[in-house]
Amino acid sequence: MKTPTPIAEITGTGRFLPENVVTNLDLERSLDTSDEWIRTRTGIHERRIAPDDMCAAYLGAEAARGALEEAGADPGDVDILIVSTATPDRWLPSTACDVQAILGCDKAVAFDVMAACTGHLYALSMAEGYIAAGRARIALVVAAEKMSAIVDWTDRKTAVLFGDGGGAAVLQPSKGFGRGILSSHLQSDGNLANLLYRPGGGAIDPISQSMLDEGRHLLRMNGREIFKNAVRSMAEACEIAIKKAGWGAEDVDLLVPHQANIRIIEATAKYAGVPMDKVFVNVDKYGNMSSATVPVAFDEAREQGRIREGSNVVTVAFGAGLTWGAMAIRM
Ligand code: ACO
Repeated sequence: MKTPTPIAEITGTGRFLPENVVTNLDLERSLDTSDEWIRTRTGIHERRIAPDDMCAAYLGAEAARGALEEAGADPGDVDILIVSTATPDRWLPSTACDVQAILGCDKAVAFDVMAACTGHLYALSMAEGYIAAGRARIALVVAAEKMSAIVDWTDRKTAVLFGDGGGAAVLQPSKGFGRGILSSHLQSDGNLANLLYRPGGGAIDPISQSMLDEGRHLLRMNGREIFKNAVRSMAEACEIAIKKAGWGAEDVDLLVPHQANIRIIEATAKYAGVPMDKVFVNVDKYGNMSSATVPVAFDEAREQGRIREGSNVVTVAFGAGLTWGAMAIRM
């Protein structure tokens, strides 16, 4: 397949992680778990947990400042601001409107995308569509996740997995040189929604005393089924995105996968035919920050020189919905 001409390129990235580090040893004090179990089953050593008064919009806005600065764009220049979040600060309005107000992106159309851990890829793809249609020249794509607010801290099967953080990217029309998003493959399967969900708190089971008493507003997960689906879907999405970009697996300089679990990452890379020395991993430091993992990893990889001008990057994610997807990007 011929390499397509990109429409939009990433001109800036940023990240923000709360300072507070919670280690596996810290969790041992409140849960029937162990550092050894968490490390060997997930690869996670520690995660960042935001203080009570630090909201998702703040995490996202701080990440966005870095991305805008690198892109040389003022908040007032932003045409479209999309926030991916599984942990909106409020049910109304969108977290994107709060980020807009914090940053002063006064002329932007601002809205949220809810695609759980795949949210950043969905949001990038929507921003690319706005640019392709000539309806935006500067798109700010933000991931803002305060997972600690929706985790059941008494459930060892989920509490050890997640962390808080924000990531961001600025997308602008491609200036040529073959740089930009070359391909994407996004998919969903609502039939498997109950593998990872929050049963209560929405219109189907409105907030009530019994809902709160039973913790139906908190995250529930079938870990084993999620694991199987994640590996299969992410490997398949990588393959499709790589092929649509006109590449083979050997052309990939760096794979930036969603950071949920080192075993999922290793299995995905193996099936996608990418060796682990070309895979970016930081799940040990931050755990699973839902849609923020991809932009945070992307920004760190650039800072470490693992993504440079001209690098061929594939990013891939999987999450509740189920949702999954991959993108091939030439930097
Ligand atoms: N500490 C100690 N023991 C634990 C813990 C814990 N934190 N959690 C579960 N266990 C126990 C279980 O109770 C079970 O004990 P039992 O055999 O006595 O019943 C045993 O460990 C094995 O449990 P499994 O669930 O079978 O363990 P598994 O090897 O599947 O690992 C895990 C669990 C890590 C959750 C894995 O299934 C996984 O990573 N799944 C993917 C989940 C995920 O990443 N979700 C994030 C959202 S989706 C996404 O981002 C991709």
